[in-house]
Amino acid sequence: MKVRLPVREAILHRRTYEAPAEGRSDKVRLDFNENTAGCSPAVRRALAKLTSNQLAMYPEYQAPTQRLARYFRVRPEELLLANGGDDALRVFFDTFVEPGTSILICEPTFPMYRYYAEIYGARIVVLRYGSQMEFPLKEVVTALRKKPRVVFIANPNNPTGTLLRENELRTILLAATHTAVVMDEAYAEFSGFSAVPLIRNYPQLFVTRTFSKVAGLASLRLGAVIACEKSLAMVRRAMPPFPVNLAALVAAEAAVADRATMLGYVKEVKRLRVWFAAELRKLGAETFSSAGNFLLANFGPDGPALFYKLEKQGILLRDRSKDIGPGFVRITIGTQSEMKLVLKAIRKELRAPA
Ligand SMILES: Cc1ncc(COP(=O)(O)O)c(C=O)c1O
Repeated sequence: MKVRLPVREAILHRRTYEAPAEGRSDKVRLDFNENTAGCSPAVRRALAKLTSNQLAMYPEYQAPTQRLARYFRVRPEELLLANGGDDALRVFFDTFVEPGTSILICEPTFPMYRYYAEIYGARIVVLRYGSQMEFPLKEVVTALRKKPRVVFIANPNNPTGTLLRENELRTILLAATHTAVVMDEAYAEFSGFSAVPLIRNYPQLFVTRTFSKVAGLASLRLGAVIACEKSLAMVRRAMPPFPVNLAALVAAEAAVADRATMLGYVKEVKRLRVWFAAELRKLGAETFSSAGNFLLANFGPDGPALFYKLEKQGILLRDRSKDIGPGFVRITIGTQSEMKLVLKAIRKELRAPA
């Protein structure tokens, strides 16, 4: 049967997103900024208690939202749960972006802003981080004069690790009188800074968070949007009725109740981040200061061959040679033994003494 499907223009001109590499579970996975220590044992206990009846019911959100709002130190009216951080980002397109309107991003950054913008047929205005991965504050303020619908800022930024502080953020907010300012705080717990306390003063401010990283729940997909009640009410209109599953809610509640595990993981990441960067510098790599659970490094022109050899040994890093420059790589801070193993493998390939 001959049929002509009325596919949208923006979709016709896209390629399918290539799913991230599969078969990673037995490898040293330092390529996705996952919590390689795994989630709290309390999460697994909580999941094991779920009953058949509970699983057969549509999820109820009031009580979990109240408890998770406490974790973020906001009121339930200021919190919206979504199906992972990716989904928390999508809602801004449904709420604010019409085909042909513009969004503002600073690259290199998390690719999902560009990804959704292409699907929604938005115009993408791109600024660049500096050579030392500094945030282009002046340029952003100037670009806001053109009133893009949304500006997306990952804070800390993935992959550069760059962190914007409150005074810089306030400068942006003052300039954003006709723009939704989305602070994507997927890694906030590692940076010690969050824009959440500012939401009541700035109705244009939206903060997104995720339970994938610090809580180690990437497989369950739970994210959040935080904003003042009135602004968030607009976003709620664009949401389906059951965006989040019960297992994710139960797991997240158990994760935030076990603060010791989460704080211990954050402390360990920060300790290893400093030590690992110093070790890489000893091997001749350039490193960039990072506020996330990852590190950007530059191994120069020999980098791509090195990353390839490591991959063959089952050590997965994120080669950023194509979008930042030859030899740039983003390395997740894993456990101490994983980081030692990576260093050993790099030393061996570079034939550097231990
Ligand atoms: C900056 C940033 N935002 C959002 C996400 C999405 O996380 P998730 O969809 O797992 O919650 C990531 C994941 O790597 C990220 O790096």
